[in-house]
Amino acid sequence: MNKTILILGACGQIGTELTLALREKYGNDSIVATDIRQPEHSELLKGPFEVVDAGNASALRTVCEKHNIHTVYHLVAMLSATGEKFPMKAWDLNMQSLLHTLELAKEGVIKKLFWPSSIAVFGPTTPKRNTPQQTIMEPSTVYGISKLAGERWCEYYHAKYGVDVRSIRYPGLISWKSQPGGGTTDYAVEIYYKALEEGKYTSFLSAQRTLPMMYMDDAIRATIELTEAPKEQVKIRNSYNLAGISFDPLTIEASIQKKIPAFECDFTPDFREEIAASWPESIDDSAAQDHWGWSMEYDLDGMTEAMLTNLKTKLGLQ
Ligand code: SER
Repeated sequence: MNKTILILGACGQIGTELTLALREKYGNDSIVATDIRQPEHSELLKGPFEVVDAGNASALRTVCEKHNIHTVYHLVAMLSATGEKFPMKAWDLNMQSLLHTLELAKEGVIKKLFWPSSIAVFGPTTPKRNTPQQTIMEPSTVYGISKLAGERWCEYYHAKYGVDVRSIRYPGLISWKSQPGGGTTDYAVEIYYKALEEGKYTSFLSAQRTLPMMYMDDAIRATIELTEAPKEQVKIRNSYNLAGISFDPLTIEASIQKKIPAFECDFTPDFREEIAASWPESIDDSAAQDHWGWSMEYDLDGMTEAMLTNLKTKLGLQ
C-alpha cells in the first residue's frame, strides 16, 4: 500500500500542481489535499480534500491521525509582497504552521516533512551572483526573515530529534495551472497572461532587475525527487539552493517576442523593486546536483513555449 501523503496549502500555486502530480503518481486516494478554503479547481476534489487551518495545531494533528499520514508537504505561506503589508500576520502564519508540523514529526505522528524555503532568505549583503549554499544571510523582508528562521528550526529538529525534514530554496516559480499571489516574482507569470490577452505588459520591476526563476514542472520534480531521495543523500537539513533560470524583465520580453513579435513591455517599478533588489541574481546549486542528482530541464525559451501554449488553451484563445 502507498504511504499516505498530506498537502497543506493544496489550493496555492505550488500546492495545486503538487497535488495533481502526486495523485498521478500514487493514485487519488493516497494524497490528502488540505487548505484553509474550498478549492476553485474541481480537479483537487478527485481525491480526499479537507478544509484545515494549518495554524491550528489540534486540527493538524486530527487530520494527520485520521488519515494515518506518513509525509507532509507543507506549502502554506504568505509571500514577500503581501508579507510587507501584514508583517505580524506573515510571521504568525509562516512560523506557527511550520512549528506545529515539526512537533508532529518529533512525536512520530508523521514520518517525513517537506517545507519550502526561498531565495528571500538572502539579503542585500549576500553575494549577488552565483550565491553559494552557505553565505551571508541577512534578509530584509518579513517573508525572508520567517523563511530563514524556518530553516534554522528545520535543522534544529533534525539535529535534536532526528526529524526527517527536507527543504528547497525555491527561486520565483512560473506556472500556468494556478496563479501565484503576493510575491515579488509574480511579474514573470503575469507577463505571459498579458502578452496573450492584451499584447502589452507594464512590469512592476525595472527592466534589468535580474532574479532566479524556475518553471513549475522543474520545481515539482525537484520537490518530489528531494522528498523521495534516500536519507543518506540529504546532507543539508536547512534548505537546498536551486538555481533555476536567471533573467530580467527585458530578457523575458525578448523571449515572448520570439513567439508574439508585436508584444511590448514597459516598466513602472513599485515597492517590489526594492525587495527584488535585495535578492540574488543567480544561485549556485551544485550541492543539490551532487547530493541528490538535481538537474534542471527548462530554459527560458522552453518555459516561454510551454507557458504560451498551455495558457492559450486555458484562456480559450486558440
Ligand atoms: N516567489 C517568492 C516571492 O516573490 C519568493 O520565494 O515572494
